Amino acid sequence: MIADGPRGLIYGLFELARGSRTGRYEPSYSRRMIDHWDNVDVHPVMGQVERGYSGGSLFWADGRFRGDLDRIRTYARLLAATGINAVTINNVNVHATEARLLTDRRHEVAVIADQFRRYGITTHLSINFAAPVLLGDLPTADPLDPRVRRWWTAAAARMVESVPDFGGFLVKADSEGQPGPFTYGRTHADGANMLAEALAPHGAVVHWRAFVYNHRQDWRDRSTDRARAAYDHFTPLDGQFADTVIVQVKHGPIDFQPREPVSPVLTAMPSTRLAVEWQVTQEYTGQQRHVCYLGPMWAQTLGLAPELSAVSNVGDDPFWTGHPLAQANLYAAGRLAWNPDPINVLDEWITLTFPSAPSTLRSILHRVMDDSWLTYERYTAPLGVGFMVRPGHHYGPDVDGYEYTPWGTYHFADRNGVGVDRTVATGTGFTAQYPPPQNSRYESLETCPDELLLFFHHVPYTHVLHNGSTVIQHIYDTHFDGAAQVEAMITTWRQAADLVTPALHTRITELLDEQLRSATEWRDQINTYFYRKSGIPDHLGRPIH
Ligand code: GCU
Repeated sequence: MIADGPRGLIYGLFELARGSRTGRYEPSYSRRMIDHWDNVDVHPVMGQVERGYSGGSLFWADGRFRGDLDRIRTYARLLAATGINAVTINNVNVHATEARLLTDRRHEVAVIADQFRRYGITTHLSINFAAPVLLGDLPTADPLDPRVRRWWTAAAARMVESVPDFGGFLVKADSEGQPGPFTYGRTHADGANMLAEALAPHGAVVHWRAFVYNHRQDWRDRSTDRARAAYDHFTPLDGQFADTVIVQVKHGPIDFQPREPVSPVLTAMPSTRLAVEWQVTQEYTGQQRHVCYLGPMWAQTLGLAPELSAVSNVGDDPFWTGHPLAQANLYAAGRLAWNPDPINVLDEWITLTFPSAPSTLRSILHRVMDDSWLTYERYTAPLGVGFMVRPGHHYGPDVDGYEYTPWGTYHFADRNGVGVDRTVATGTGFTAQYPPPQNSRYESLETCPDELLLFFHHVPYTHVLHNGSTVIQHIYDTHFDGAAQVEAMITTWRQAADLVTPALHTRITELLDEQLRSATEWRDQINTYFYRKSGIPDHLGRPIH
């Protein structure tokens, strides 16, 4: 039972592990990491946990260390039970207070690490690349400056004195305003290798994020393509990173949308250690107010990198994850990194979390969760185009919200058609970043999969999909179907009223009501927008506004 804690999940998993004593039980991914985006101070825009939908941080509140070691210990146990063996405890956007976790606040890191260590989990820290300047010691953070190198060497050594098994640093550099080596005309390999040199004597590593792009793009400029950025920045550096640098690559080329192709970087750097990064926190997938089980989506990147990093969806909420069913995503992240076979993961989660569930409850949970990612996809942005969300908080529809902004996330809808031309023939050339046969598969309208059509092509609304429908009719159909499926989820969940605790039933019921309200808003805004743009009516004459 998952009410008020993870007891079912933890105990169930321990039973599973006991059952496996007879055979060898080895993980597929060597490092299986959860990244927290927790702040120490409450950030004026992002709050205590950036993109956090489960209450506050387990570690900090209003600038202070919370000191709730029992909760951290229980959390460590929960993570270990899913298969996780590494944790980064603070946000990749490292602001002034958080930068000091490396120096005069490192005792907080040590106390947290003591709890995680009990369950075989190493503790990592996000650092600010400009820390030598930010913390007031040096006039530069140039990675090739000997003073800077000495500063990092000393900082790493002090950290290891406090945390003997310190895991290493996670770095977001030259990205969305975070400082990095570009300031000094240096490469990302220069920056990462400097940190690796400081950490390697202690057996610690650098996770260096490939999420680097121009977030101040001119929307009029159609030649700059954000999808290209990670590959363009990083593949020329293949072979130049130290052995203890892991380049951490987001699942898709842009930014954790419900549907993107797999990042081409994951198959383009054979001489670099890579980690794939998943977003367990549901920033773009319903913010833990919508049921959206993401295991099937993540399965697309299994086997492409030897390591996994997954952005946490946990907070101080009594159910840990805001939406109780979002626990399944946390479980799937750890579990898929251990055993990359997605088939039974959700079923396993149900068994472990509801150990005495009658078959009716199992069936209800499957009906609510199995296709929930595809349902979410249906009522939100169509055919892989992405980013039709409200700017800033990213919840709910706003078709043109990002269309004339500097963020590089456009759909180019006009009265004739929609989508981003990323072909070599007539577009940004992004398709060429894939090896054969994917490059030609995505390049050609004949072979591009429907679900990614608008990611790769700009097509007329009358374009006929492989499924036989036109783009415009598909938009109408999927949006009506998606919202109707949420209604069906509510009907299904009602049948669980006597099968789970009242608290759990009520929480999920309330969230499903919000999911239906939101899905209806998505349906009506998307359908209305495209009807008004195209002037083409719905064949079935359903209400469009
Ligand atoms: C997204 C998200 C940010 C986050 C960033 C990242 O853009 O909205 O909050 O900082 O990803 O992954 O670094």
